Amino acid sequence: MKIFIDTANVEEIKNAYALGIVEGVTTNPSIIAREGKKFEDAIKEISGIVGDETYIFGEVIGLEADKMVKEAHEISKLHKKMIIKIPMCAEGLKAVSLLKKDGIRTCVTLCFSAGQALLASNAGAAFVAPFLGRVDDIGWDGLQLVSEIAEMFAVQDIKTQIVAASTRNPLHVIGLAKCGCDVATVPYKIIMQMIEHPLTRDGLQKFLKDWESVPKN
Ligand code: G3P
Repeated sequence: MKIFIDTANVEEIKNAYALGIVEGVTTNPSIIAREGKKFEDAIKEISGIVGDETYIFGEVIGLEADKMVKEAHEISKLHKKMIIKIPMCAEGLKAVSLLKKDGIRTCVTLCFSAGQALLASNAGAAFVAPFLGRVDDIGWDGLQLVSEIAEMFAVQDIKTQIVAASTRNPLHVIGLAKCGCDVATVPYKIIMQMIEHPLTRDGLQKFLKDWESVPKN
């Protein structure tokens, strides 16, 4: 399963990329707003860090299909492997199918049901983004939702990739990998949590301490 980073913070992106484990960057309007930069500037800066061959996801703001399509064309000029996030709604599906004809790859976002995911794939979305943490927040089961979509796509041989978003902890990421999700997009904090383990830290300290007693000459 691929891991993308869900941030527009330049330092976090640089640090995560240096680890060699991140294959894409996802943003949304809230993430962009946190950085206090113009959308175009933020995307161009990220593009400069990750290079041409890495996916960057940027979202449209328009609510009508023609506005989404127009915006998508503009956003696509900012980066070679740009994926356009389109919100799940009737106008969004219309935009996705029009953009597919134009050769622009999309991700249907704010997906909260298997039915929405199926329609997104039929409209021609390259990716669909279920928000599992927000499903958990209302007392439902986010991993169950992603698992259902993964099973449905496998049975139907659907090529649309699942990029699970709104991940909140390492257990989400492990659960996603186990259920056959294609991509987990995660905040920087989760990557750090996945690296850290108290026994690894204690073990390293012990190795270094014991090394002090090894004769050096
Ligand atoms: O990619 C979508 C994600 O950023 C939403 O996360 O934590 O606001 O539900 P959250």
